[in-house]
This record gives sequence, C-alpha cells and structure tokens, in this order.
Amino acid sequence: MRSLLIVEDDPLVRKTLASQLAKKGFDIAVAETGEDGVRAFAEKSPDLVLLDVRLPDIDGLEVLRRIRERDRRAAILVMTAFDDMKTTVEAIKLGAFEYLVKPLNATELDLAIEKAFQVRALEEKVSHLVEERTKEYTIDNIIGRSAPMRGVFKIIGSVANTRTNVLIQGESGTGKELVAKAIHYHSPHRDEPFIVINCSAIQDTLLESELLGHVKGAFTDAVSETKGKFEIAGKGTLFLDEIGDVSANLQSKLLRVIESRDFMKVGGERVLKTEARIIAATNQNLKALIEKGRFREDLYYRLKVVEISLPALRERREDIPDLVAYLLEKIDRELRRNVRKVPPEVMKALTEMPWRGNVRELENALTRAVILAKGDVVLKENLPLEPDERRAFPDDLVSLEEVEKKYVQHVLNAVKGSKTRASQVLGISRPTLDKKIREYGLEVGD
Ligand SMILES: Nc1ncnc2c1ncn2[C@@H]1O[C@H](COP(=O)(O)OP(=O)(O)OP(=O)(O)O)[C@@H](O)[C@H]1O
Ligand SMILES: [Mg+2]
Repeated sequence: MRSLLIVEDDPLVRKTLASQLAKKGFDIAVAETGEDGVRAFAEKSPDLVLLDVRLPDIDGLEVLRRIRERDRRAAILVMTAFDDMKTTVEAIKLGAFEYLVKPLNATELDLAIEKAFQVRALEEKVSHLVEERTKEYTIDNIIGRSAPMRGVFKIIGSVANTRTNVLIQGESGTGKELVAKAIHYHSPHRDEPFIVINCSAIQDTLLESELLGHVKGAFTDAVSETKGKFEIAGKGTLFLDEIGDVSANLQSKLLRVIESRDFMKVGGERVLKTEARIIAATNQNLKALIEKGRFREDLYYRLKVVEISLPALRERREDIPDLVAYLLEKIDRELRRNVRKVPPEVMKALTEMPWRGNVRELENALTRAVILAKGDVVLKENLPLEPDERRAFPDDLVSLEEVEKKYVQHVLNAVKGSKTRASQVLGISRPTLDKKIREYGLEVGD
C-alpha cells in the first residue's frame, strides 16, 4: 500500500486530509509539529509527505530540508496558506515536488499526488544528480501570486541551480530582466557578474566586439585590446536582451559560441572558453520570426532549453493590488512624498486598465500620480484613465521636449505639411515653427 505522511498543525485540515486520502486507499500517518514530522519520516519512510509550511515549532521549509537531508529522494508536496515568491522558490529549490496553496483543491491535490508517484517510480529507475545545498536569498522582489506567476517562480526555482540556457519571452515591461536577475541571484554563481547586453541598442559590428572582445588594431577604432562580455561574465550570467533583433551574421556566430563554448576575439587568434550561462529575452514572437526567415531555428532551440513565458499584466489582474502597494513603497523610497493611500475606487480603476506597457507602465503611471498628488492619497484624476488620453502619451516617461517633438511631427503629418495650418493648430508663429522643425529635424511633407 502506498504510504503518506501528513505534517499539519491545523487539526481540522489534518483530519479532513487524513480521512479523504485514507478513503483513496493510502496508508496514512500524521504529525502535528515539525519535529514530529521529521521523526515520523525517519520511522515510517513514507512514499510521500504532505507538508504544511507554517508549523508551530520549526519552519516547514526547515522540515523539508531535514527530510531531504535524510533522504534525497523523498517526495514532498508543500502546502501553504500564503503564497509568495520566496517560499515557492525556496521550497522548489529545496526539492519540494509541488507547491499547493490552501484551501486545497481536491482535484489539484489528487493530480499532484498521482504525478509525484509517477515521478518517484521513474526516479527509482534512473540515477540522478545530487543537488547542491541552497543558501539564502539575495533578491525577492518579483510580485505576483496569480497562477501564471506561481508557475514562473517554480521554473526559477528549478533552473537556478543548473547551467542551462533560458529563454524569457513576454511583452514589454512584464519583468523579463527581473526574472533573469532572479535566476542569477538564486544560482550558485551569484557572486559572479550578471552582464546585460541590449542587442537592439548596439550596431551589429560593435555588438560583435562587445560580445567577443577585440584585439588591438582589429578595426580602425580598436586602439587597445578589450575583453568581451562572454569573457567578463565568467561563470556568471550573460543576459542577451532583445535577442530577436540580432542580425543573421551575428546569430550564426552566437550559435557557434553557444554550441562549442569557445570563441576568438575579433581579429584575434587565441581560442577562449566561456563558462557563462546565457539567458536571452525577447518581446517578439521568435516562432514568427523563424517563419519569416529572420531568426535561426537552431539558435532558437539552443537558447530555449528552458522557456519562461511571462504573462501580460492584464492576464493577471489579481496581482495588481499587491503590485500597486509594492510599487508605491518603491517610489516612496526614491521620491519621499509619502503617498501610499489608494482609495478603493482608484484601486478598482487600476485593476481594470489595459496596461499595454505592463508593470513598467503601471510603475510610470503611479510615479506620475505620486508627483502630482496633493496629500498622501493617489487621486483618480492623476491617473491616465481615459483610454484616449492614455494613448496620447508614450508608455515611458519622457521629457517634455520628446513629447513636443513627436506632437509637432504628428500635427505636420495631419495637415499634410502645411506650415501655415500647423502653426495655427499649434498656436505658435511661423518662425517658431520653423525653428522647431530645424531643431528637432522634423519632416515636412509636400
Ligand atoms: N512582477 C513584478 N514585480 C515587481 N516589479 C516588477 C515586476 N515585473 C516588472 N517589474 C518592474 O517593472 C519594470 C520593468 O521590468 P523589466 O525591465 O524587467 O521588464 P522587461 O520585460 O525587461 O521590459 P522590456 O521588454 O521593456 O525591456 C521594472 O522596474 C521592474 O522592476
Ligand atoms: Mg528589458
């Protein structure tokens, strides 16, 4: 008979679970405290443990650690009433098989138990790697308790200790860089560099020498030898942002480096090795780019050994209140305006907006509202709530000059290049308009 140990201090939950699962034919043992749990595990070696995270004596994660120390193959399902990034990642890193949030859903529980047994059966056949012991956290700032974000935390927890390449996809502002950092700072090589390179911001040949480095005299401006990011990253992480924008030429070079793990500096002859973990990110649909022949399929498969898809903010609206609280605190640390209060109707409006620029847009909107606030309350009138007004502004906070430049160009286009009409619409004189056209380098249609 398959045996199951339930470690749970809440008598009601414990009894309900025990009777439900006994009916399903499991041999049940129970423990009320962490110490009892560890002891019961040692005595009974159950096939599976259902473990509560919050226990009266020792922390559930500590119980998890001790059980796994005793038996590295112990199958443990962690249950908790609160769910956050920290416990999820830590539990999965410590080897929990699954993470369930209370109140437990019977089907979800059944599935998790079934899956755990299947995996155990498999594991008994296959020898597996010894996991490294984990240390504490360095960062813990990804907010979200929605189902898709919990999925993301689980993946972070399971890839952190490996060296595999990871591909992060998601719309702009969904937290791709944040996730890349979380993976790095949860990894055993967290003290090595985390190097970001934005592939769309740098011109092709420069990007190549940024990545590989160059020797003196490799090209006109190469006055001295430089190290490339592949070298600088050491055993750390190289974060290739906007990977979808890399040219065909560089794509094939990258593929070579990733496959062979060695490379030469531009103009160099010595073969260097790289040990960096590659995390790539994109807000483009790489599959579509592959179909159009703009991205190499082989490179795509090399990069997406593990894939993380970040949900858009509008797909996880239940996380918005947590995010608002977190972001207001973050903004307050910088601006010191002490604006922390959000009336219910404002919160409601915030959770209903489209947020095409995702968390970054939410952060920008809140920053603006904090700056404009009169007291300590976020006011509805200071949020870009009107759909039309909203779209009139760019998603990023930019200077007035930038907005002016775009708007004058917009008017010029709208009046088909008639400077007379444009100056009337803008309420400025012709010479002023001419000056702006010159200074901003605007285009006047004919
Ligand atoms: N889940 C989250 N919790 C807290 N802050 C978040 C979260 N997701 C994103 N942010 C914040 O939103 C901003 C944008 O995040 P980030 O730069 O990681 O997004 P991105 O996906 O890389 O965007 P882009 O494609 O525009 O580069 C950052 O200030 C980040 O700290
Ligand atoms: Mg980014």
